[in-house]
Amino acid sequence: MKNTPVDYEIVSRKIKESGLKSVGKASIREIKKLVDLIEAETGDKFIRMEMGVPGLPPTQIGVEAEIEALKKGVAAIYPDIYGIPQLKPEIARFVKLFLDIDVNTEGCLPTVGSMQGGFAAFMTINRMNADREGTLFLDPGFPVHKMQIKILGQGHMSFDIYDYRGDKLRDKLESFLKTGKVSSILYSNPNNPSWICFTKTELQIIGELATKYNVVVIEDLAYFGMDFRKDYSIPGQPPYQPTVAKYTDNWVLLISSSKVFSYAGQRIGMMVISDKIFNTKAPDLLRYYSSAYVGYALVFGSIYALSSGTSHSAQYALTAMLEAVNDGILNLTGPVKEYGKKARIMKKMFTGNGFNIVYDKDEDNPIADGFYFTFSYPGFTGEELLNEMVYYGISAISLAITGSERLEGIRACVSLVKREQFPDLESRLKRFHEDHPTK
Ligand SMILES: Cc1ncc(COP(=O)(O)O)c(C=O)c1O
Repeated sequence: MKNTPVDYEIVSRKIKESGLKSVGKASIREIKKLVDLIEAETGDKFIRMEMGVPGLPPTQIGVEAEIEALKKGVAAIYPDIYGIPQLKPEIARFVKLFLDIDVNTEGCLPTVGSMQGGFAAFMTINRMNADREGTLFLDPGFPVHKMQIKILGQGHMSFDIYDYRGDKLRDKLESFLKTGKVSSILYSNPNNPSWICFTKTELQIIGELATKYNVVVIEDLAYFGMDFRKDYSIPGQPPYQPTVAKYTDNWVLLISSSKVFSYAGQRIGMMVISDKIFNTKAPDLLRYYSSAYVGYALVFGSIYALSSGTSHSAQYALTAMLEAVNDGILNLTGPVKEYGKKARIMKKMFTGNGFNIVYDKDEDNPIADGFYFTFSYPGFTGEELLNEMVYYGISAISLAITGSERLEGIRACVSLVKREQFPDLESRLKRFHEDHPTK
């Protein structure tokens, strides 16, 4: 019987009872359930880093606007599927003020979380050309997007960008685009799970090649403005959140309110489509839609069929939150900076105890501190490491499920870890290091 920070016998028994062959191979939800059960029986509190959920209260301005809208009776009324009239110009203004990009209000749409935006974008964009097959993912990435592609019966290609940063990205990306089979490119920036952020050089390469091969870039800005090495929070002033929209007209942006406004529960996000793509005529769309125009097919085809629009009251919340940040009354990233501060401290605890940061650089610059980071330990695969760390009261997910080729890696999410838990985290990591000496 081993002596570990969390009772060895109970952890082993709970793993056995869960029926999981390997904790390291389990999905996020399976790990969550297992850890809930271990915590309940042992009374020990885990350092929980498996789920990417906000750890802050929702933006109050949104909550109040939503309550007021509900009191006025909007719950009884279907909202316009392309968004309430007040919201659309506020989204366009946000895009201008924080990305420095001009877009017509008709291409500014609310969606049921940016998750639905992604689904509707794949559904429509990947059907524009009958001779193409689907999406190229710049991995590592968010597994649910690949699930969406699979559910839609579409094809996908992917590669891990770890070895293709900077100028090296051009040839690699072009090798996929040359096949003529790619309809769209998807990546998140900052990236879930690795927290790498594409540099200007990389975004320019992606943009130029998207134009050259007439491919649409679906840029997932789920963590908008959260590269805290720069302050992207001042409306109308540089620096702006970097975007591929500076380098091509072929873009769709997915902007989530879940993390930056801690508004995940209300399932509201934004999809913003460039004027060029919105007005593009793609006759192959007529196989599925009554219109060959991309914008029309997306709104009156995909979004109508999926959910007939987005929750009426949540649209009022989003309008109010955007108005507040656009007017400079509310600082866009002020509250979420706490994630970066915690990540900085936590990463030091890991590296001080024999762990390495896996995705550690953006070209020559050290990676930002933010919502996620990735780590490994000498001599362990990610799967083995997760299996072992459960006994030390630490839970996270393996990079293997994210399209990463760094199989030694684990993703840690900082959001749910409380500062009061830092001493526990440090002593458990120290203990792990003592029990697994490195050469
Ligand atoms: C990269 C990425 N895209 C999209 C989403 C989903 O965002 P939303 O809650 O707006 O649907 C997440 C949520 O974790 C994410 O990490």
